[in-house]
Amino acid sequence: MADLHSVASQLVESGRGILAADESVKTMSTRLTAEGIEVSKQARRDYRELLLTAPGLAETITGVILSDETFNDSLADGQPFPQACRDRGLLPGIKVDTGTSPLPKGNGATITEGLDGLGGRLADYAAKGASFAKWRAVIDVQNTSEYARDANAHALARYAALCQDNGIVPVVEPEVMCDGGHDLDACAEVTAATLVAVFDQLDRQRVDPSGMVLKPNMVTPGLKAEQVPAETVASATIQVLSSSVSTDVPGITFLSGGHSNETACDYLGAINDHAGSAPWSLSYSFGRALVSDALHTWHGDPGQTEAAQVALLANCRRASAAGRRRSMASGATN
Ligand code: 13P
Repeated sequence: MADLHSVASQLVESGRGILAADESVKTMSTRLTAEGIEVSKQARRDYRELLLTAPGLAETITGVILSDETFNDSLADGQPFPQACRDRGLLPGIKVDTGTSPLPKGNGATITEGLDGLGGRLADYAAKGASFAKWRAVIDVQNTSEYARDANAHALARYAALCQDNGIVPVVEPEVMCDGGHDLDACAEVTAATLVAVFDQLDRQRVDPSGMVLKPNMVTPGLKAEQVPAETVASATIQVLSSSVSTDVPGITFLSGGHSNETACDYLGAINDHAGSAPWSLSYSFGRALVSDALHTWHGDPGQTEAAQVALLANCRRASAAGRRRSMASGATN
């Protein structure tokens, strides 16, 4: 069975991060439509192939999270996606949650689904080459409650324990949404309470923190609120993480949450500047902040594939530079 700690450490190696290219069929189809691209399985495949085959992607990316559709699909030349990842020096990952539903009696909060039969699915993904998996819980600042946080934390820990039992590194994603007009303090309070609940459940359910990766939001005001300097985001984020995250976790890879590449990278750079002696590698697992420009540039036109890859690689390089700021400042090597 895989050495979970060594795979988790590989995923968060300094200066590289994880590419989240795991939008569900529904979400990916919505994004294609928004760009005026005709929706089809072929379009989704061509787009994911474009991302994965960007020349030198592994210089800034350690692993790629795939959706079930892509994971079980092949490149145009017939090579299965997981193998195509490995051949390019990228660890293949798989999103295993099946989305959110209203949480019963949750007053508008959601619960993430996908636990039924998950052990069998993970065994199958592992046999097909998956090194890591992702599960996203969604916490909305407007309608959160202790109940909603605990229910989602419990499901995240069930998922993480099942992953580790199947030799797969869990990427644990409790996302406090950036949508809305809440201020920085509200995000900090909800993020801290969520992470405390998550680590309590991980501990109760015997998840080894040294064999997982945490994928949280950065602590920011809501996207509709007045924004604050990157240094303020950084110190709030480090403070929240320091009060809630196990020191045995090898690395934290932030999601981008609707922030642009430039903003998300500014925040990540400042977080690394402020990290001091924090025990974790602080890196990225951005989706939109890495891929949106590539999708826009590609526009479904095979003639634009190379230009789209250039756009993706530029965004990855900016994130990688932000991730390296800490090691340049402190000499840290993890
Ligand atoms: P964003 O970076 O676009 O928020 O996506 C990350 C992700 O994996 C969401 O589950």
